[in-house]
Amino acid sequence: AGAAYLRVTPSMLRRQTGRRGKDAWTALGGRVYNISPYLPFHPGGEPELLRAAGRDGTKLFGEIHPWVNYETMLSSCLIGLLVDEAEAQS
Ligand code: HEM
Repeated sequence: AGAAYLRVTPSMLRRQTGRRGKDAWTALGGRVYNISPYLPFHPGGEPELLRAAGRDGTKLFGEIHPWVNYETMLSSCLIGLLVDEAEAQS
């Protein structure tokens, strides 16, 4: 039910590092976000934010600022849901 979210596998996520002309994506709490538009606004700076690019950034994010409400801040940057490789095929 609801919106049809893009299902993103870890291998798809790994290609989205922000290099080679592609946007930087990260996964937070099972959701995948395009963080490229947010890069210039991140109070911690672009290099810090890019440490989470192309991978699951949940742990890193939680270690630094668990109080930050990323769901609201990045709602317009939502790409889809992180799924495992097998789930994407079904
Ligand atoms: C600061 C947002 C990811 C490192 C902040 C602040 C916000 C924010 C709002 C200010 C917090 C405050 O002053 O209370 C976000 C969002 C992220 C993200 C929406 C979504 C991906 C990351 C990641 C890292 C990181 C992955 C590190 C690998 C930092 C650091 C600061 C900071 C070090 C502190 C900057 C300072 O006070 O000098 N971030 N962040 N952030 N962020 Fe992030």
